[in-house]
Amino acid sequence: MNVYETDELLSQYLGFHFGDHYFGVSNYPARCAGICQELMAGRDKHKALDLGCAVGRTTFELGRIFDAVVGVDLSTRFVEAANTLRKAGAIDYFRRDEGELGERVTVSLEELNLTRAASRVSFATGDACNLGPEHTGYDLIFAGNLIDRLQDPGAFLADIHRRLADNGTLVISSPYTLMAEFTPRANWIGGFEHNGQPRTVLDGMKDILSGHFEPVQAPMDIPFVIRETRRKFQHTIAELTAWRRIR
Ligand SMILES: C[S@@+](CC[C@H](N)C(=O)[O-])C[C@H]1O[C@@H](n2cnc3c(N)ncnc32)[C@H](O)[C@@H]1O
Repeated sequence: MNVYETDELLSQYLGFHFGDHYFGVSNYPARCAGICQELMAGRDKHKALDLGCAVGRTTFELGRIFDAVVGVDLSTRFVEAANTLRKAGAIDYFRRDEGELGERVTVSLEELNLTRAASRVSFATGDACNLGPEHTGYDLIFAGNLIDRLQDPGAFLADIHRRLADNGTLVISSPYTLMAEFTPRANWIGGFEHNGQPRTVLDGMKDILSGHFEPVQAPMDIPFVIRETRRKFQHTIAELTAWRRIR
């Protein structure tokens, strides 16, 4: 069972992307889009791809600055929810407080000033590791909290330049939460000792991406909070890196 197809995760992600923020931590998908906007200043902004878009907040936010943005996710439920929001302008979800207690909450694009941006976005189900031939020529690809959910992150990173325009920008954000049920141990690109030295996921990313990219800026910490119940929250620190395609 894919956890990203469940009612529970759908509700948590609708809250995470479009609901309240907690403990003073700003909205993560919107903040990532803001960083992408800064990185794209003065550059072509024709089309962008949000890989592992979940319920779509970063996709919608990127719609403020790009002519066209595509959000792709493996989860049919997440993509359906993103499409409902795009078409209807609103969606509701159950925000759990405790056990079966909670309330239905509505989020609306109008309240987030995203109605115009929504006209520039589309969503599709798809596998980031097996994208169709239509996915090429992007000025920006954003992959938020995706690489540690892939079966084979090394293969993904080795191939992703083919989807970008020349000088296109790749932005990857991840807490590097390696879990064997998502990424078999044999496919880890870091998170272990190699020849007696620690090798991080960032080390692995640098090695793999160096064939086609150069780093744009120093890695940044981006915290986020996902509310599970009224009294339980996940507080995570992702690391955001940005890369420019040079060949
Ligand atoms: C940890 S969530 C992050 C979602 C979103 N980017 C965010 O930061 O809130 C991982 C997302 O990646 C999606 N995903 C997992 N494997 C994928 C794949 N191979 N291709 C596309 N999406 C995938 C999941 O369905 C889920 O929506």
